[in-house]
Amino acid sequence: MTTPLTENTCLSELLIDEVADALQQQGFIQLTEFLPAWLATDLQQEAKRLSSIAFKPAGIGRQKDLQLNSQIRTDMTLWLDGESLQQHTYLKCMEQLREGLNRRLFMGLFDFECHFSHYAKGDFYRRHLDAFKGRSNRILSTVFYLNDNWHKNEGGELVLYADEQQSPLLVVPPLFNNCIIFLSDVFPHEVLTSHSDRYSIAGWYRLNNNTTTHLDPSQ
Ligand code: OGA
Ligand code: MN
Repeated sequence: MTTPLTENTCLSELLIDEVADALQQQGFIQLTEFLPAWLATDLQQEAKRLSSIAFKPAGIGRQKDLQLNSQIRTDMTLWLDGESLQQHTYLKCMEQLREGLNRRLFMGLFDFECHFSHYAKGDFYRRHLDAFKGRSNRILSTVFYLNDNWHKNEGGELVLYADEQQSPLLVVPPLFNNCIIFLSDVFPHEVLTSHSDRYSIAGWYRLNNNTTTHLDPSQ
């Protein structure tokens, strides 16, 4: 890497080019060594620390229609508030990616929301879409993984499908400092049962729907 990375530029322009090209061509990209290693390590430590004190059972749906459905997902989550240095820096990096993608692809990404997830032994998230065409403002999904020394027999892979297909398009192990980015309304996906503690940050770039008749609630 030739350009020094500062707090405002976690990601290289070359990396953002690569993401933009892949999204345009195939709708998803799997990245290794996504962030500076110190940041991934700090986020991992924060996820582990907070998971025992602040994570809540994940819900399906948003606000009013939020319902817990342990048939569908069993992980515990915590929305990032950006108050700690590591959360703040993560949100800065994702902001840099948002601006970079908007500049390259005119996607009109308006904001980014994300939560830590913890899958304990036996936890899963069944096949789902993050967005339904015309019914959600989630455009782009991101999952950043925080597990070092992850082995095949620990399960917990993210499996991406193309449309209604039953055979996987992509199987993603939740490896430390890897990130997957995909179009939210295109790829159904699931998290296979995890056999160990599994930490990640799942996030979504959204369009601004605030101009319609209702105020669009975050989370
Ligand atoms: C999600 C999700 C995938 C993962 O939170 O919506 O699909 O690999 N997460 O954690
Ligand atoms: Mn999902």
